Amino acid sequence: MTERTFSIIKPDATRRNLTGKVNAVIEDAGLRIVAQRRIRMTEAQAKKFYEVHAARPFYGELVEFMMSAPVVVQVLEGDNAVARYREVMGATNPADAAPGTIRALYAESVGENSVHGSDSTDNAKLEIAQFFTEADIVG
Ligand code: CDP
Ligand code: MG
Repeated sequence: MTERTFSIIKPDATRRNLTGKVNAVIEDAGLRIVAQRRIRMTEAQAKKFYEVHAARPFYGELVEFMMSAPVVVQVLEGDNAVARYREVMGATNPADAAPGTIRALYAESVGENSVHGSDSTDNAKLEIAQFFTEADIVG
């Protein structure tokens, strides 16, 4: 089923000029980039986005990291896009990420791991709505 997921190319990747290389992996996997914007996350945006992790010990560092350089927020569309993109990203910790995945190829650490992807279709809708309106998305 065609669906949408939300993606972020994180600061460690934009800092190393890897936006195009990450997008190539996404597109080679059959996902379409139907909206994309380069932004600098505000503290309020980063805190809200990772609110679910607010009680975790890494929350403060994660929020600071997300504000430390530009990010590229994206909407990806394709067959089973949520699960498909989780596969394409690889495990959270790059040491555990399968070969060829974005995190195996490019992530620097469990924290600075190059990409975000929604973990459910419900969260995809909420995350897309935090950064895009329907008019921004051109399928
Ligand atoms: O991004 P993903 O859904 O794979 O992982 P998560 O468990 O939802 O964690 C969100 C983000 O928090 C990760 O992508 C890392 O950037 C960060 N994190 C961290 O800094 N240290 C950890 N031990 C776990 C996650
Ligand atoms: Mg997650």
